[in-house]
Amino acid sequence: MHRPDPHSYYDAAQPKARRLRLKLGVDFSAKRIEGEVVLEFGKAFGGPLDLDTKGLDIHTVQVPGHGPIAWELGEADAVLGQRLRIEVPQDSQEVAITYATGVDAMALQWLEPEQTEGKVAPYLFSQCQQIHARTMVPCQDTPVARIAYQAEVTVPEGLTAVMSAGPAGDESIGNGRHVYRFSMPQPIPSYLMALAVGRLESRELSPRARVWAEPETVASAAWEFAGVEDMILKAEALFGAYPWDRYDMLVLPPSFPYGGMENPRMTFLTPTLLAGDRSLVDVVAHELAHSWTGNLVTNASMEHFWLNEGFTVWAERRILRTLHGDDAAALGWAMGQKALEDSLARFKNEPHLTVLRMHLEGIDPDDAFSSIPYEKGARLVAALEQEAGEERFLRFIRDYMDAFRFTSITTEQFCAFAEAKLPGALEAVNAKAYLNQPGLPDTAPEFRSGQLDALTKLAESWTAGGRPSSEQIAGWKPAELQVYLQKLPRQLTQADCAWLDGHFHLMGRGNHEILVEWLTLAAAADYEPAFPRIREVLLRVGRMKYLRPLYGAMGGSPRTRALAREIFAAASPGYHGLSRRVVQSVLDAYPA
Ligand code: BES
Ligand code: ZN
Repeated sequence: MHRPDPHSYYDAAQPKARRLRLKLGVDFSAKRIEGEVVLEFGKAFGGPLDLDTKGLDIHTVQVPGHGPIAWELGEADAVLGQRLRIEVPQDSQEVAITYATGVDAMALQWLEPEQTEGKVAPYLFSQCQQIHARTMVPCQDTPVARIAYQAEVTVPEGLTAVMSAGPAGDESIGNGRHVYRFSMPQPIPSYLMALAVGRLESRELSPRARVWAEPETVASAAWEFAGVEDMILKAEALFGAYPWDRYDMLVLPPSFPYGGMENPRMTFLTPTLLAGDRSLVDVVAHELAHSWTGNLVTNASMEHFWLNEGFTVWAERRILRTLHGDDAAALGWAMGQKALEDSLARFKNEPHLTVLRMHLEGIDPDDAFSSIPYEKGARLVAALEQEAGEERFLRFIRDYMDAFRFTSITTEQFCAFAEAKLPGALEAVNAKAYLNQPGLPDTAPEFRSGQLDALTKLAESWTAGGRPSSEQIAGWKPAELQVYLQKLPRQLTQADCAWLDGHFHLMGRGNHEILVEWLTLAAAADYEPAFPRIREVLLRVGRMKYLRPLYGAMGGSPRTRALAREIFAAASPGYHGLSRRVVQSVLDAYPA
């Protein structure tokens, strides 16, 4: 027996499924999916087969020509779930399992109509990364076992289903039911299986890109993301032809716990990106970049997560630089630096979670999640780029994608490849320090620009009375204001808050990066005029990136602590399970 991924029961001595055939019946009243999955192995085999499941109700296991066969669920592990062991008869090519999802399936959030924009129909979305696919489908839930899939999804008439796959037709089947078919012909890691069902409409943005959203938001979504084809073209010029046919996007309801999720052919996005001024489209650049780094070349397990996110952040900023220039990219790196410092502070007592090459046996990958693989990882990639030179490095990146396309690899495989193609570069940048040592190496690249230096200096002069001029206040782009706010002292006075809101009209901002940065400062200052807006945001938005700092900043005074507890009690039924867990841990850390 050999289990290559500490977060999966997958046994490398057993064959991998090559393709899944799914039938999913979406039952909104029971908040359950009745599923059937056929795992195709593409060759004959027999013997024990270990799959991942969590909270699933397994009904039957069958193999063609054999009828029902024996299976057994192992002990429940809080992180991994339960191993499903099937005794597969000799010479079998496929295994069929019927099952139903459990009430607490972490991959699924079932929304009441009130939690949607239109407020008339329920909504379902999935989020399988890191290891939640097993709460939706019994499978080898590890990125080393890549699968193609096809699916038939039955939903109530009037609702639309989308998946991380190409559409393959739909039809009404009577009894108020409608079936949607999908096909994902390329092999993907299980965490990229994705499904959403709701009242959805779409708008075409280019011959290969469209955006889906509820009818109430689809027009503003189409406006916000109108530049996506331009981004795809820039990304292709850097990394080669777009490998997934279509690039469609889905704007989810506000409880979606992430900013974006790179589900292939259907990126999922938080509606907080709809700022009204296209100022947050860097998240689309990021998810698009995953089409190469992450989806085409994938981390072999969460222990190598930096291969996904570090490369993608680097790629995102490379795209940003070609689109908007050096200053814009420098601001992006500065925002990343802030996120990195916050994460290093959060994990100051858990240094093992601050290395890139992680060791996660017994650790829930959702607990290990932070900006470190993103930003420390991107800095290692940028250091290698600086060492090799831009052009040579870009050639290296293209070779890397060619060599490992549609495979899932480890840090060690990456390093061996880098050593072969860029001899000496890893050592020259001291890659070992990034990979195996906590914190950020002193030699990490720094990204500066005249504009960024001026913003930093101005923010640092706050306590001494330095204030932006009226030209600056009127002329700053959203990213400049965001970086400025991030660089202000964390503890402001009531008068400081009043000045900032008075001059920058922060309370009414549609850009949630700015809004939440501001509300976090205001919460830390116990600034009462901001309380209603804080309540509004926390009741509506479930994006963890915002919940953590905002609830965190409310821990400073008895009054804001009480407010946080009261808001959480009201908001938590509407939060995604992941978000609820994060906020609970923040509140648990408040002083008594
Ligand atoms: N793949 C991640 C989201 C994710 C990570 C989901 C880990 C589950 C577990 C996605 O690509 C991402 O990084 N999103 C960021 C966007 C940002 C870095 C531009 C987010 O959600 O904020
Ligand atoms: Zn990402």
